[in-house]
Amino acid sequence: HYRDSGAGDKRNSFAEQEAWEEHQIGKATLKYGSKDRKRKSDEFQFVFEDQIDFIKASVMDGVEFEDEVPAESLDKSTEKSAFEKLQEGRKTLPVYKYRDELLQAVEDHQVLVIVGETGSGKTTQIPQYLHEAGYTKRGKIGCTQPRRVAAMSVAARVSQEMGVKLGHEVGYAIRFEDCTSEKTVLKYMTDGMLLREFLVEPNLEGYSVVMVDEAHERTLSTGILFGLVKDIARFRPDLKLLISSATLDAAKFSDYFDSAPIFKIPGRPFEVEVHYTKAPEADYLDAAIVTALQIHVTQQPGDGDILIFFTGQEEIETAEEILKHRTRGLGTKIPELIICPIYANLPTELQAKIFEPTPEGARKVVLATNIAETSVTIDGIKYVIDPGFCKMKSYNPRTGMESLLVTPISKASATQRAGRSGRTGPGKCFRLYTAYNHDNDMDDNTVPEIQRTNLANVVLTLKSLGIHDLVHFDFMDPPPAEALLKALELLFALGALNKLGELTKVGRRMAEFPLDPMLSKMIVASEKYQCSEEIISIAAMLSAGSSIFYRPKDKQVHADIARTNFHTGNVGDHIALLKIYSSWKETNYSTQWCYENYIQVRSMKRARDIRDQLEGLLERVEIKPMSNSNDLEPIKKAITAGFFPHTARMQKNGSYRKAKTPQTVYIHPSSGLAQVLPRWVIYHELVLTTKEYMRQVTELKPE
Ligand code: CDP
Ligand code: MG
Repeated sequence: HYRDSGAGDKRNSFAEQEAWEEHQIGKATLKYGSKDRKRKSDEFQFVFEDQIDFIKASVMDGVEFEDEVPAESLDKSTEKSAFEKLQEGRKTLPVYKYRDELLQAVEDHQVLVIVGETGSGKTTQIPQYLHEAGYTKRGKIGCTQPRRVAAMSVAARVSQEMGVKLGHEVGYAIRFEDCTSEKTVLKYMTDGMLLREFLVEPNLEGYSVVMVDEAHERTLSTGILFGLVKDIARFRPDLKLLISSATLDAAKFSDYFDSAPIFKIPGRPFEVEVHYTKAPEADYLDAAIVTALQIHVTQQPGDGDILIFFTGQEEIETAEEILKHRTRGLGTKIPELIICPIYANLPTELQAKIFEPTPEGARKVVLATNIAETSVTIDGIKYVIDPGFCKMKSYNPRTGMESLLVTPISKASATQRAGRSGRTGPGKCFRLYTAYNHDNDMDDNTVPEIQRTNLANVVLTLKSLGIHDLVHFDFMDPPPAEALLKALELLFALGALNKLGELTKVGRRMAEFPLDPMLSKMIVASEKYQCSEEIISIAAMLSAGSSIFYRPKDKQVHADIARTNFHTGNVGDHIALLKIYSSWKETNYSTQWCYENYIQVRSMKRARDIRDQLEGLLERVEIKPMSNSNDLEPIKKAITAGFFPHTARMQKNGSYRKAKTPQTVYIHPSSGLAQVLPRWVIYHELVLTTKEYMRQVTELKPE
């Protein structure tokens, strides 16, 4: 069930890919059966050639496609009515009918569990209703989201609906980005951010209402929030707590919150026809693309858009490329297909595109990660294509290895995904797996994140909140004891906890940084080695995302040469990152410089933002900015102070053995030390593709 991304891809070159695609198109096509025996099982057997004829015929019949109306001109000329339309739109949402009942229920109960289909208006409307009802006079309304993109896009939407500027009355906060102000009364934020607010404001005094949204997602931070908000609700009777979920397993939430009442918002889901493939698909990415094209060329463009679920950014970019290539091949013979990717790291300005209405005569195909499963609502989707996979974090407490693996989704996820197509009319869902797979191989529910992740960060946060007895902490889904122990052990090794498991001064300083404990330790240690300036640059670069380098398919050689420039002297990847950052800074943060060096401007800007914030946090923990860029030794020592648990020693034939657990690992081919193979190394992270690779590697002197 594991799909390799990157290093070992079977079809590496684009030419090979193309040849393979042509082959696919030639023989077309996917065959769908239906679980419902009454339905004609070969309803969806198309042959591509026929489709081309069909398209040609329709063109000759004089079907004309209108040009897209520029969205901007529309907005300006009809600004006022657009606002009115938004207000009318609000009234058509399922939750609107229950507005008064809901407000009454909030008034009557301190804790309320709210359940309603995705798109019923929970996230955008409920905080507004509470605001209109005066709750914001007593404090802010905070609404948590498991995903950054959701927090931003929902805040943007609500600010439009309220006719205010984003960041004023309505704002959002995500890690390394705070778009709120003194005025902000509706604050959307990631669950992780609210968790951090507890550090500053343990009673959440500034809030009158906290809405833990998308509770069904059971993310790590949401899991911890449950315990914390349940606790403060006891001594803050004025605080209202809303737990909202898109799935019907609300009983569990209600039980956990001492039998809190459940408020159901009846949806109006339309029928969704579900189709399964007759046989398992060997390559779901291509299967998904073929299916999308089949729908696009055989169905009238006005009848609805397509949503495909992929597992991550890389896959989405590949799919986008293939789709562009194939539709270009068909030229004007087919209606316009607007490709809209959406994933967590997509720049905000591009995210907006998925919410724009589809122009007449065209069709939108949204390529999304799990984010579109429940977090964001995209109107106008009629067809959902579900390959049945998602990227999921897993953690092995024995080896301490955390990995992000492509895993089959659960039945609950499959149902959610299918439901995305039946929001505004009857929909169709194409599952790229068999009915047998669905019924027999998929788990019923997704395992909560707290049970499959490294808990070091959470334990540090809880400890700094003064919660010492973690074993008896009121977790809704208790984590495995072994994972808790592992986290305590790591924090002890890092010097964040003492023998009694109490937070030390180092630990207290570490907890100030919204980073992995090993990174925070590296920063705290930079004080001793007098290189805090360099270390926060490295930390910022490591946190800015994995795609610092840009490697266009037609210029790979140039890109690789540019890259080796930063590795002169085999300094190791951490120092290379530092050099990149410093060189960019010397050019006064020039975009041109990034282009010339095949470096992603976007990642660099992000690194700069992160660095600015880390600089502020240094001040807070009273570490002076100190620099010593001529001597790399102290810098490497500071890195080692945080990352010594990630030590590996070379064995024969270029493989390494981890020092702590007997595990064979390799230096990632993208590392500057991939050919050098030092005897001892420390690494930033392990990634599992074809092998277990160490990424961001620095040489360690044995002594
Ligand atoms: O939270 P829930 O899934 O119940 O719904 P919601 O996120 O409040 O979305 C309600 C409606 O707002 C959706 O059906 C969309 O029409 C609209 N919406 C939007 O247009 N753009 C957004 N960024 C978010 C919501
Ligand atoms: Mg929502």
